[in-house]
Amino acid sequence: MSLLGEPDAAQTIARADSAAGEVVLRRRGPHTELIVDGVFVMDTVDTSTELDLATLALTRHPRPRRVLIGGLGLGFTAQAVLADARVEHVTIAEIASPLIEWAEQGLLPAPGLTDPRLTLVPGDVGAVLSATAGEWDLILLDVDNGPGFLVREENAGLYTPAGLSSAVAGLAPGGVLAIWSSHRAPDLLAALESLGAGRPEEVVREVRREGRRFDYAVYLLSRR
Ligand SMILES: C[S@@+](CC[C@H](N)C(=O)[O-])C[C@H]1O[C@@H](n2cnc3c(N)ncnc32)[C@H](O)[C@@H]1O
Repeated sequence: MSLLGEPDAAQTIARADSAAGEVVLRRRGPHTELIVDGVFVMDTVDTSTELDLATLALTRHPRPRRVLIGGLGLGFTAQAVLADARVEHVTIAEIASPLIEWAEQGLLPAPGLTDPRLTLVPGDVGAVLSATAGEWDLILLDVDNGPGFLVREENAGLYTPAGLSSAVAGLAPGGVLAIWSSHRAPDLLAALESLGAGRPEEVVREVRREGRRFDYAVYLLSRR
């Protein structure tokens, strides 16, 4: 809000075309916004659950050395993972590839994204999952607003039993899969349960935005 009580106007910080469509980083007052292919993806008004996605998974693993994140977004989940000294390597797959360049240039709001432990890979996290088996101690997925509110229709397969099974196969024994959602997702919980790979867990966090209450959720599964 401006001092006169009017909504702040948005200013474009960076803009580029990509295979995922136009990617725009905007500043609105003190906050940064990310828009991909005309769809509002996220902003920095409340990033507590992006951080929770990382810390909930990190606390469930005794020695999380290798971490895969899909996608980068504004970098808050990555920041929380890199803050853990036990982590030796982080790969982030990001389909909106200009974000990778902007992270390297320090344009993204989360600090620490030039950490030498970090590898940024342009492309679909689903492709990384298909090509890596038993490799990751943690896999953190935050590529949509949740399984019921996709940012990309092509991501639907990630939340099917086959897609989730591919994610679990990417985990080393004892590894943890964590999925962020902007809503409670009982179908996702049931699909995780149906894999028989471990008992899934739902952690719900209340977030208030513009006077409204939202129940965000993180779904976790530790591979037996
Ligand atoms: C909500 S943001 C992630 C927010 C991030 N957790 C943070 O802390 O800032 C979702 C990101 O996933 C990316 N994305 C969407 N589908 C993807 C996919 N299939 N593979 C990789 N990245 C994807 C989007 O371009 C976007 O940057």
